[in-house]
Amino acid sequence: MGETDGRRAVANFEGKVAFITGGGSGIGRGVALRLAQDGADVCVSDMDLEAAEETGELVRKAGRKALVVRANVASEPQVLDAVSACVSGLGRLDFAVANAGIARGGSILEFALKDWQDQLDVNLTGVFLSVQAAARRMVELGHGGRIVCMASLAAANTGASIWGYSATKAGVRIMVRGWAQELGPYGITVNAIGPGIIDTPLAHALAGDEGGAIRASVEQRTPVGRVGRPEDIGGLVAFLCGPDGEFMTGSYLIIDGGLRDARTQADPDPNDPRVRELQQHMQASMKRRQRTQTLLDDR
Ligand SMILES: NC(=O)c1ccc[n+]([C@@H]2O[C@H](COP(=O)([O-])OP(=O)(O)OC[C@H]3O[C@@H](n4cnc5c(N)ncnc54)[C@H](O)[C@@H]3O)[C@@H](O)[C@H]2O)c1
Repeated sequence: MGETDGRRAVANFEGKVAFITGGGSGIGRGVALRLAQDGADVCVSDMDLEAAEETGELVRKAGRKALVVRANVASEPQVLDAVSACVSGLGRLDFAVANAGIARGGSILEFALKDWQDQLDVNLTGVFLSVQAAARRMVELGHGGRIVCMASLAAANTGASIWGYSATKAGVRIMVRGWAQELGPYGITVNAIGPGIIDTPLAHALAGDEGGAIRASVEQRTPVGRVGRPEDIGGLVAFLCGPDGEFMTGSYLIIDGGLRDARTQADPDPNDPRVRELQQHMQASMKRRQRTQTLLDDR
């Protein structure tokens, strides 16, 4: 069993194979690394091949086999090819993590249909296609499996501008309950995870920078006193994939350091430096979003 940042590995995944969508960044990379540290070989799938290659290198450095594939989760042929490549390249499929997602926010008065559609395509259709392809393979292979879908705390809570994102994540949260009913008899569990604010490129505007005012505000509001890390989610996925996760299926597991019940802050004061910092972060996020959009439009 491996060690991860002082955390004790909970399972020995030697001989197991994991398939992860959106494995090139943030949570997906954290999950890939944790499963590799626990002994699994990993197929890292992402529409950003360069990013996926970087994760693949980290998996190899952890001493495990990595297979890297480019696939847009919103494309059925690409998802089918990716899952096939995983099984032929790494020999089996034990764990599938439908993690790829995007966040498109905005007021109902302005929200563009294209943003709505893109978000549905990736966050809902992408999860459906990934789970369907993985589950069919697991049934064919006949040795059961574990499927984990990345929902969000936003599947339970919502607010201005994130209601569309919430709708997609609430969809994931409810779909796993139905899938659990169908897949249980094949020895396959399927669960959804609801992360709070995790320090990744997607949530940079919310998580802020280490030592910055936004980060301090998140730390102050979060009962455990820190922002979430990709390895926190990696640990939960390892639990769900391990022997102790066998009896859990159809569940939605919030992992947010207690943020969901934290006191909401008063309306922001426009003269507050934290509000200015947030605006700068939003601009940086927009730049990153343009890159993701180019990749999506390219599909
Ligand atoms: N970071 C958070 O605070 C947070 C909180 C709750 C839920 N989540 C969810 O966790 C998941 C991972 O988010 P993250 O924070 O690591 O984001 P991220 O932006 O750091 O990583 C997402 C990865 O998914 C890939 N991706 C995006 N669209 C894709 C597509 N159509 N096909 C294939 N790959 C695609 C991107 O290239 C990127 O590598 C998402 O589903 C997100 O909604 C994140």
